[in-house]
Amino acid sequence: MQQEGEVRDGVVSGARVVENPLDRRFVILVANAKGGCGKTTLATNLASHFAVRNRQVTLLDLDPQQSATHWLRLREKTDAAPIQGLQLSLEGSVSKGQIQAMIQRSGEYLIIDTPAGLSGATLDHVLSLCHVVLVPVLPSPIDIRATTRFLQAVMLTPSYRRRPRRLAVLANRAKARTRVYHQLQQFLRSLKIPWLTTLRDTQYYVQASGEGTGLTELDSPRVRKDLQEWQRVMEWLEIQRALIRSMPGFR
Ligand SMILES: Nc1ncnc2c1ncn2[C@@H]1O[C@H](COP(=O)(O)OP(=O)(O)O)[C@@H](O)[C@H]1O
Ligand SMILES: [Mg+2]
Repeated sequence: MQQEGEVRDGVVSGARVVENPLDRRFVILVANAKGGCGKTTLATNLASHFAVRNRQVTLLDLDPQQSATHWLRLREKTDAAPIQGLQLSLEGSVSKGQIQAMIQRSGEYLIIDTPAGLSGATLDHVLSLCHVVLVPVLPSPIDIRATTRFLQAVMLTPSYRRRPRRLAVLANRAKARTRVYHQLQQFLRSLKIPWLTTLRDTQYYVQASGEGTGLTELDSPRVRKDLQEWQRVMEWLEIQRALIRSMPGFR
């Protein structure tokens, strides 16, 4: 027999109201149809950032190449803060239900790493299930063009038209004072979506990715400035999370 105030299936009977932990879940999609622009680097660094701050974090790898999963395997061999890993290859046709089932198994923060070429019904499914979308962009004319097309594709999906997601772009692998970076700056300023930060081109990202860690876990004063850039991303994410939680029925 259930007592008054007892939790049943995450819902509470009686006078006391306890929040269902699943309602606190925050789903961050990292996407761009272009390969090599830093999606996995962004996803793994975000996961590491939340994990070292003792958050319940899950990294869902939708890429058949499984780079994020490989990073998690490396991480498991260290004593770094744990991150739950989930995989679902988007190689074949994947239904919205399958992705949803994965999301149900995840922790408080879910970061979804996606493959290159994300489009059509699959893009629509993942968009409908996330709260925010982060889009890394490289300073190159090809990447700027591909990102323009990707952002257009996002905005034309049925799920985005029904309920626009919070989108933001990040410049990645920037080399200050180069012509292509100047072009990228102009492009990012011309967009009507927030440009959160610029991540510089540095081997520290490559080093961390080979060790199953993130930049925040590298014990080096040389990444202090880079971590300040990351702080802006984290602040934006926390603001979005707070806004979403303050809107009943938003999800
Ligand atoms: N800011 C950066 N500085 C240096 N190397 C980077 C940076 N961001 C990504 N890389 C490297 O670029 C390559 C592609 O990045 P990755 O995150 O795998 O892209 P994607 O997942 O979009 O294909 C990887 O070798 C990664 O280590
Ligand atoms: Mg990748």
